[in-house]
Amino acid sequence: MSDIDELKTHLLTAIEASAALDALEAVRVEALGKQGRVTQLLKTMGAMSPEERQANGPAIHGLREAVTNAIAARKAVLEQIALDAQLAGEALDMTLPVDVPAAGTVHPVAQVMDELAEIFADLGFAVATGPEIEDDWHNFGALNIPETHPARAMQDTFYIAKPEGAADDAAPMVLRTHTSPVQIRTMVEVARRHAGAGSAGGAPIRIIAPGRVYRSDWDATHTPMFHQVEGLVIDKGITLAHLKWTLETFLRAFFERDDVVLRLRPSYFPFTEPSAEVDVGFSVEKGKRVIGGDEGWMEVLGSGMVHPRVIAACGLDPDEWQGFAFGCGIDRLAMLKYGIDDLRPVFEADVRWLKHYGFAALDVPTLSGGVGTAA
Ligand code: DAH
Repeated sequence: MSDIDELKTHLLTAIEASAALDALEAVRVEALGKQGRVTQLLKTMGAMSPEERQANGPAIHGLREAVTNAIAARKAVLEQIALDAQLAGEALDMTLPVDVPAAGTVHPVAQVMDELAEIFADLGFAVATGPEIEDDWHNFGALNIPETHPARAMQDTFYIAKPEGAADDAAPMVLRTHTSPVQIRTMVEVARRHAGAGSAGGAPIRIIAPGRVYRSDWDATHTPMFHQVEGLVIDKGITLAHLKWTLETFLRAFFERDDVVLRLRPSYFPFTEPSAEVDVGFSVEKGKRVIGGDEGWMEVLGSGMVHPRVIAACGLDPDEWQGFAFGCGIDRLAMLKYGIDDLRPVFEADVRWLKHYGFAALDVPTLSGGVGTAA
């Protein structure tokens, strides 16, 4: 075998044997690099006589071509192998079950808001919202709480500094002290549509408005931010009986007990007449108070028949439309239902507390499944 054939066999074997791209590159340099053996052979042709060149040229050129082709072919194979390996490494099996435990939980207050929406949706109520930074009229004035009214002192209001250039007599904005302004916003909007659409538009109204409210208060049972849910029904021929039935139906569904009993106590709110505070009966089981029965009473909400002045302030005719309203602390509902003793950690965002009292993200409350099935 000639030297050229020997070199060819050596190089082609080395090319076939290279298992990776860098090994192949080393063979390429050995053969075709500046100092490569094939390159050296090509250079010798310059010093050959025409006859010698004729005799050896085809073999040398053939060698270069064979080696170049073999390298290109091997390179393509190795690149494909590398790509296949990368794709296999990055593959996701979408059919595998998820075995990563959910990291977060649904806060009990959010859970209770979902439960409220679910229960009241079943009774035909929509969810309404309003701004947390509210003007004086919506938070107080329209609710029959004029500036001089002592009821303003009932709530320790956070006032927002007036913007630069505001008129001296401009009423200050406040952080809403209750969800009752959403009653006003809802009625005003309905009265506006009512005016445009004749008596077919507008009322009846059935809404609940859950959300954050703010008061300057801080102790074991009060936080400066807390949650309320407002309820409002406006229709024709609405009486206290509708109010009591609605609250009873709501609280029975919420506490998931049929023996929930209510007691309405006469009370005073500027925006309702008559007004009632609503107590729910509890019994004592294993030394703990549980809702249901009538061994004792605890107050859970304020309510009443919407004051005609409030209805009129919103642009509806109080001789035509009546209604009831109620307001209830959501945090307290959550504490009562889920056995939370202290209010302050409810807003401290301690992960251990959230893990203990929180709910699974996919555990959406439904009436049929039990609105409060614990995680
Ligand atoms: N807004 C009252 C408060 O924050 C709660 C309330 C009482 C709301 C009676 C009502 C109601 O709608 O009718 O203390």
